Amino acid sequence: MNRRSFLRSTAAVGAGLAFSSRMFAAASGGGNDINVALLGAGAEGRALMDASRAIPGIKFKAVCDIWTAYNQKAMVNLLGRYGHKCSAYVDYKEMLDKEKGKIDAVLIATPDFWHAEQAIACMEAGLHVYCEKEMSNDLAKARQMVEAQKKTGKLLQIGHQRRSNPRYIHCYDKLIREAKILGRMTTINGQWNRSAQEPLGWPKNAVIDDATLNKYGFASMDQFRNWRWYKKLGGGPIVDLGSHQIDIYAWFTGTTPKGVIASGGTDYYDKKTHEWYDTVMAIYDFETKEGIVRAFYQVLTTNSNQGYYETFMGDQGTLVISESSARGSVYREQGAGVPDWDKWVKLGFIKEPVKKEEPKPAAGTVLDVRETLAPPAYEIPVTMGGKAYHQPHLENFYDAVRGKAKLNCPAEIGYETAVMVLKVNEAVEAAKRLEFKPEEFKV
Ligand SMILES: NC(=O)c1ccc[n+]([C@@H]2O[C@H](COP(=O)([O-])OP(=O)(O)OC[C@H]3O[C@@H](n4cnc5c(N)ncnc54)[C@H](O)[C@@H]3O)[C@@H](O)[C@H]2O)c1
Repeated sequence: MNRRSFLRSTAAVGAGLAFSSRMFAAASGGGNDINVALLGAGAEGRALMDASRAIPGIKFKAVCDIWTAYNQKAMVNLLGRYGHKCSAYVDYKEMLDKEKGKIDAVLIATPDFWHAEQAIACMEAGLHVYCEKEMSNDLAKARQMVEAQKKTGKLLQIGHQRRSNPRYIHCYDKLIREAKILGRMTTINGQWNRSAQEPLGWPKNAVIDDATLNKYGFASMDQFRNWRWYKKLGGGPIVDLGSHQIDIYAWFTGTTPKGVIASGGTDYYDKKTHEWYDTVMAIYDFETKEGIVRAFYQVLTTNSNQGYYETFMGDQGTLVISESSARGSVYREQGAGVPDWDKWVKLGFIKEPVKKEEPKPAAGTVLDVRETLAPPAYEIPVTMGGKAYHQPHLENFYDAVRGKAKLNCPAEIGYETAVMVLKVNEAVEAAKRLEFKPEEFKV
């Protein structure tokens, strides 16, 4: 790609995509390589690294992690084995200083309370940022991230990876928007149910000394490993897990909610080690052009019944979708006046149910007149194409860095989701319905 066609393709994507001369150098170098640093090399850092190295032209150059004896060491070794020679850092400021001019983008997968400071510093250093959700556990800091993105013009993708998932994109573009297959959407129901878990531990030969832990905001090794449960460090399960799915509620309804009521508490675990609520049930109301959509969401951390999914219900059908590829079906309402779905099957929007025959009651059962049996399940004919869940979202980010795409989850969208989920914790505490003002979603 020569300079002119690169500029043309960047201009074609339009809207404020800033790019550095270093990026052009990478693009014109033939390889179109993007040099990347990983900031936070824990469980999610590993997922981002694995998905990124499946993408052509991504070169890891640096790893920053305060857990030198464990995660940092393991990640640098692993990347080395994959042919990415990386420098290792403990402090992100030192990394930004020493890697100046050598990297294009940073993937941030540190605990939530670090995101704002680190993402802002990276953008101010001229780097594009892929930052894991939750943008921040503190809304004021999430707001500063949006402001820094606007000021610097750098790309800031937030890690709500379902936004780039081809199955979700198909459901929104084809089923909800084009076919309006659900009819008038009225209700949403979703959950992430997880089994009870022991706290995360650590190898005894990889303990971080107290001075280092304190310097980076952790009171102890237990807090360092189980940061999600602590109020100053994370947002608890509703934010950690719920934000992915509540983000989809807003995407698929095309709006942000008017209000939320919620109930929750630390009902099972010890409040000293689990400051955030282990159980939360929330109900939002979304006001769409067609009318109110009431949306229930629950997160359980003591029982995994039915796992995680989102269900969108309308007067003509139901869509059940999940990041877990084991789920994804559409059900047609059986009432009179509901158009048949042959047209959508022919167009390839949905696949004919495998079991076509009418459902029959179990042997020995006499059906009550009020009963309807489960309708047949139409399938969603789109797969991940063998990619890991994070890969399409990272591809979208790297494409945007190369000037070939618009971000699927830019800072403004990540911010709207942060507003929605952080309010649930407030609603639990307030024990009453809390309203959202439209301006709360804007920066
Ligand atoms: N998108 C998803 O599906 C998804 C899934 C899991 C986690 N996440 C997000 O990813 C982030 C990381 O989660 P995780 O499960 O990997 O946590 P983790 O505790 O396994 O890893 C965090 C890593 O960050 C390092 N770290 C902590 N503070 C640091 C600092 N100031 N500078 C450098 N390194 C630091 C730790 O040493 C650790 O290696 C969180 O924001 C989480 O919400 C997203």
